Amino acid sequence: MASQLDIIAERYVLEAEISRGGMAIVFQARDDVLARPVAVKVLHSHLSEDASFLERFRREALAAAGLSHPNIVAIYDTGTHPGGEGEPPLQYIVMEHCSGGTLDDLLSSQGPLPPERVVSIGVAICEALGYAHRENIIHRDVKPANVLLADDGLLKVADFGIAKAAFAEKELTTTGSILGTVTYLSPEQGQGLEPGPGSDLYALGVVLYELSVGRPPFVADSSIATALAHLKTPPPPLRSIKAGVPRPLEAVIMKALEKDPDARFSSAEAMRDALESSVGRTNSSLTTPIPVRSLPVRSPASARTKRVPRRRNVAWLVWVIVALVAIAGGAVLVSSLDQGGRPAPAPGTKKGRPAAGAGNQITVAAVSDFDPYGGDGEHPEEAPAAIDGDRTTSWTTQTYSSSLETLAKPGVGLVFDLGDEVEVSKVKVIGSAGMDLEIRAGDSCEGDDETRFDKLAAQSATSATSRFTFPPTSARCWLVWITALSQEGSGIGAIAEVEFLGG
Ligand SMILES: Nc1ncnc2c1ncn2[C@@H]1O[C@H](COP(=O)(O)OP(=O)(O)OP(=O)(O)O)[C@@H](O)[C@H]1O
Ligand SMILES: [Mg+2]
Repeated sequence: MASQLDIIAERYVLEAEISRGGMAIVFQARDDVLARPVAVKVLHSHLSEDASFLERFRREALAAAGLSHPNIVAIYDTGTHPGGEGEPPLQYIVMEHCSGGTLDDLLSSQGPLPPERVVSIGVAICEALGYAHRENIIHRDVKPANVLLADDGLLKVADFGIAKAAFAEKELTTTGSILGTVTYLSPEQGQGLEPGPGSDLYALGVVLYELSVGRPPFVADSSIATALAHLKTPPPPLRSIKAGVPRPLEAVIMKALEKDPDARFSSAEAMRDALESSVGRTNSSLTTPIPVRSLPVRSPASARTKRVPRRRNVAWLVWVIVALVAIAGGAVLVSSLDQGGRPAPAPGTKKGRPAAGAGNQITVAAVSDFDPYGGDGEHPEEAPAAIDGDRTTSWTTQTYSSSLETLAKPGVGLVFDLGDEVEVSKVKVIGSAGMDLEIRAGDSCEGDDETRFDKLAAQSATSATSRFTFPPTSARCWLVWITALSQEGSGIGAIAEVEFLGG
């Protein structure tokens, strides 16, 4: 394609290829009329053969061209360029050229970023999304490759609404070559539902998660498994991956990653405010450039090397997931796939896995949340994650804005039913660091206060793994009781795995 292209519309002189992707080639170019650098994105010719796609594409490009904001890549022009002999015309978009690379590049070169930097990036993206949402435009494809750094260090979001053209329902089966990214796909988009502002906030949550800890929340072997994880699996708490992430920032990101769009932030502005207060007030990136000095400026050659292959054919994937969810008992199927084919648990209680040759590890018959001091429930459906043998899945408490003590709530926890009276001398709890934990044992798993369980051990969890040792004690029911959620007292408590070991 590039060979036919030297100059477009008698004014855009193509100088170098920046990137060649599934949907388009992006060129560094110069606008001869206005004498300024531009970027030109030329869609692959096979897409131009599809009239309905082209129509949608033009419509979305026009809508995006109406957006004018310092944190959004400006679209200057769009049109068609004659194709080669027997070839359809090529569709192109001319936009503001950003020479500082993408957030993808930043991640590759600098790995996880300090919290203040994560926040200023998040604030800038929230500014862009908030403005676009007020203009009734949903981005639909927020991801590190679509966040660019301009020459002056300002951060700019690219490709607003373009995904809408690519993923129109009608085209799901026909435009198999349209590529998207499943890593940042919201649960509702994974099910083929219409995305809303909350879908962009979810994707931003994934981006900020990755910027904070160096990996996205869900990394599975296949696109389907990753999309299903977005749908069903709670994201591992950030601090279980990187202890230094401030808890308030973790809480903001986890809220953005709620499966239910209504449980996320009500708007990009609300998310921006929460981000700003999570590490003390930062200046808005509207006026504060993101420092890019240490970021290698993207050269056309390096631009072709991606950090990890992130492109996935989302179109067929959406159909597979929709089909899975639609099948009777789909939820059960989905969660069993999610766990690598193991049987799905009933919410709030679960048959224990076998000890699996783990020496004296004791099999748990069932687990349920224990919240005798009220509230709206403590995610009972997540309780099985504490005994599923998978440390990347967790049971989490609600998000508390103040400490349990302030709320006059003695604690909250999980009750483990060993099925029979069993002698235990060690308990290992893997979860968020900073919680105050107690191990208690009792005869009955029912009940309405923790004092019916005898306290055997207590400690503050200084790291993700807490080991409790006590004299061998026989009991059927075991309470892991959280009396403080974090060092600051507020936030979320998470338990990824609990193991009981015999004497
Ligand atoms: N305005 C721009 N200025 C400078 N570089 C750009 C610009 N727009 C895109 N790029 C570069 O081109 C690359 C490819 O962009 P493009 O939008 O075609 O694909 P993508 O966002 O990586 O993924 P997908 O193919 O899923 O859309 C970006 O990662 C970025 O490096
Ligand atoms: Mg893009």
